Amino acid sequence: MNLKGRSFLKLLDYTPEEILYLVDLAADLKDKKKKGILTKDYHAGKNVALIFEKTSTRTRCSFEVAAYDLGMGCTYLDPAGSQIGKKESIADTARVLGSMYEGIEYRGYGQDIVEELAKYAGVPVWNGLTNEFHPTQMLADVLTIKEKLGRIQGVKLTYMGDARYNMANSLMVVCAKLGMHFTACTSHKYFPDKDLVAQCQEIAAQTGATITLTDDVTAGTKGADVIYTDVWVSMGEPDSVWKERIKELSPYQVNKAAMDNAGPQAIFMHCLPAFHDLKTTIGREISAKYGISEMEVTDEVFESTQSVVFDEAENRMHTIKAVMLATLGEPEK
Ligand code: CP
Ligand code: NVA
Repeated sequence: MNLKGRSFLKLLDYTPEEILYLVDLAADLKDKKKKGILTKDYHAGKNVALIFEKTSTRTRCSFEVAAYDLGMGCTYLDPAGSQIGKKESIADTARVLGSMYEGIEYRGYGQDIVEELAKYAGVPVWNGLTNEFHPTQMLADVLTIKEKLGRIQGVKLTYMGDARYNMANSLMVVCAKLGMHFTACTSHKYFPDKDLVAQCQEIAAQTGATITLTDDVTAGTKGADVIYTDVWVSMGEPDSVWKERIKELSPYQVNKAAMDNAGPQAIFMHCLPAFHDLKTTIGREISAKYGISEMEVTDEVFESTQSVVFDEAENRMHTIKAVMLATLGEPEK
């Protein structure tokens, strides 16, 4: 498998074999890290640029730690601290950074921005989250599912909440690619984009995957191996949508009833950050305004033994390391 020179923008661009290869490479890098085997000579002397037009904990830290572990230096460009899009076009930024760095990570708004960066950069570009897709999160999720359930093909994954955004889109794509059974369990208004559903159904027909959209919580969660959710309001969305999201998505909160209906085999997953208590500023603000103390997931489920969210978070680093290593070139064996 040779992925050298490729960008990593969305999983639609990758074959099932390539996706599974990256997951296996991540598992190998994780094993090395646990055993204290250093990989600092793999890309010593190289540098990567990390552009963040939206905030981050996991993705930024994963790219930084992974870069250091591979011997590379990195520059973090924060949401306010660069000229991108304000005084300098994406195409110009891409050519500037591409002349100084061996790879570029981008987190921000439209998928078209990261696609344009990749077109002009001349070096691999990695999507660290756009409105439409979050592909590095998918590799971490698949690795976690493999570790916890021992299989990928045939796994039943149910996503509850706003299924029109980056997380549900990406989960639907990765399920289609890897022969998993994807269910979006939410009200009709929050179903994923029709064209993307059709595209995933075409892929699913080749891989044995299925794509189901339902507003019925009992039917949608029954027998699921994975119950997945994400915040009801994503980064970049206006505060004004909170009221309707709480009203319309509350029936699709992941709570004990949903987990029990899925069954004891089910694991709970969330890309994080999650609103499950009042220990955050936004959590307290929403509580004061709307009188709720938990949102997309209850604290009981979040803290339960079925929850694998922190393993998932750790796997972000190992999988991002695999993406950088594979696309910058692996050492000769
Ligand atoms: N899951 C995820 O992307 O987390 P961050 O926003 O903290 O990077
Ligand atoms: N849908 C969320 C994912 C965060 C990792 C957002 O875009 O804010």
